[in-house]
Amino acid sequence: MIENNNQIRDSFGSKFGVIAAAAGSAVGLGNIWRFPLVTTQNGGGAFLLLYIGFVILIGIPVMLSEFSIGRRAQLNAFGSFKKLAPGTPWFLVGSLGIITAFAILAFYSTVAGWTLEYFAQAITGKLSHVNDMQKNFADFSSQTYRPLMWQFIIMLVTSVVVFAGIKKGIEKFTKILMPLLAVLILFVAFRSVTLEGAMEGVKYLFVPDWSAVSFKTVLMALGQAAFSLSIGMGTLITYGSYIQKDNHLLRTSTQVAITDTSIAILASLMVIPAIFAFSPGSDVASLSPGPGLVFEVLPNVFKSMPGGSFFSVLFFFLLSVAALTSTISVLEVVVAYLKEELRLSRGMATLIAAVSISVLGVLATLSFGVMRDFTIFEMTVFDLLNYASANIMLTFGALLIVVFVGWRMGKSDFINEISNQGNLKSNLFKGVYFIIRYIAPVAIGIIAIATFFIQGIV
Ligand code: PHE
Repeated sequence: MIENNNQIRDSFGSKFGVIAAAAGSAVGLGNIWRFPLVTTQNGGGAFLLLYIGFVILIGIPVMLSEFSIGRRAQLNAFGSFKKLAPGTPWFLVGSLGIITAFAILAFYSTVAGWTLEYFAQAITGKLSHVNDMQKNFADFSSQTYRPLMWQFIIMLVTSVVVFAGIKKGIEKFTKILMPLLAVLILFVAFRSVTLEGAMEGVKYLFVPDWSAVSFKTVLMALGQAAFSLSIGMGTLITYGSYIQKDNHLLRTSTQVAITDTSIAILASLMVIPAIFAFSPGSDVASLSPGPGLVFEVLPNVFKSMPGGSFFSVLFFFLLSVAALTSTISVLEVVVAYLKEELRLSRGMATLIAAVSISVLGVLATLSFGVMRDFTIFEMTVFDLLNYASANIMLTFGALLIVVFVGWRMGKSDFINEISNQGNLKSNLFKGVYFIIRYIAPVAIGIIAIATFFIQGIV
């Protein structure tokens, strides 16, 4: 019976495999596409500092909480709460996570699809002949069928990987490709900061201007931290349930957070200085960059570097891979839930999850074309999903997760789990628990409530 269970429940093969999969989930479009975008929309340097503060103060504790919930319960995000808090409404946190997975994957697959288009444009040489990158992006993204085709391909590949029973393939895959992506980003960032006029951008990023900060900025920094670390919706509860019992969860969480944050900072060094270099004299705020930011700025950087067309092919390929290692982790949340709670086969669960998410995804993709004027709270479907998932759903999810660990699971169970039943000793364990029980919930709560009352929900 136990053997049978082990066969059903996949687990990661090695410690490095855990890092590769969790960092694969964390590192993605959130770092390279979303981070430079929200940083430029929210004042630059001050935003960056807030962001780093949130990663340390809230990100790592929430990540650790999720891993420990999943590993203890050995179940999907929904089932974990049901098992650890039977007969209580805590399972609703799991439900929220499943809904959030829908919201995220719907718009994420739109952007992941764009990276495939740019990969195609790079490989056919089209990209190096474009004069007006903004127009190029607008022309493509406002079409109907082409962006939908790429989105469909992303959902298909994601489903195939998830269906295959996860990690054996992807673990190996990410171990080689993620380091390659990091090296490439270093390269492009170097080219970007050495462009003429780029130093203004570096200053913008590292010299904080606190006058640009409002409650909403703070909420956006927190939301971005949650989004980028893949916390607040059960991705890491699900992955945690596949982690072996001897893994040092605090160390793993810290390593994943450091990797993710380094890549986000490098990505903004790749994008922001280039904005200043290519549009000298204008300040970033007045440019009010849109979702196409990365697709408009980076091709210009590639055009201006030797061997740029080769690098652009490699870059957009790796960016697609980085996106895929994240999309699979989101889809897996829903699939593990359907499979374990509704007792569906993995194939059936994957099919149902992917098809239903794609329906919402179509609306997100068409937000740049035929559905551009369809708005809710003055936002297109895409913008609404993007804003609400990170700033409302993940933030709220993260709050509930720390409250669960701090106040329901309790100190002894939590310390027992992260110390591997007392086998690991560290002075940090109690400190992290203190943060989880008191500091993180109060901080998230104040930010959420203040933003809500001062600025309205969106
Ligand atoms: N962290 C991923 C990224 O930055 C996105 C993601 C969010 C993945 C939430 C899983 C869960 O690209």
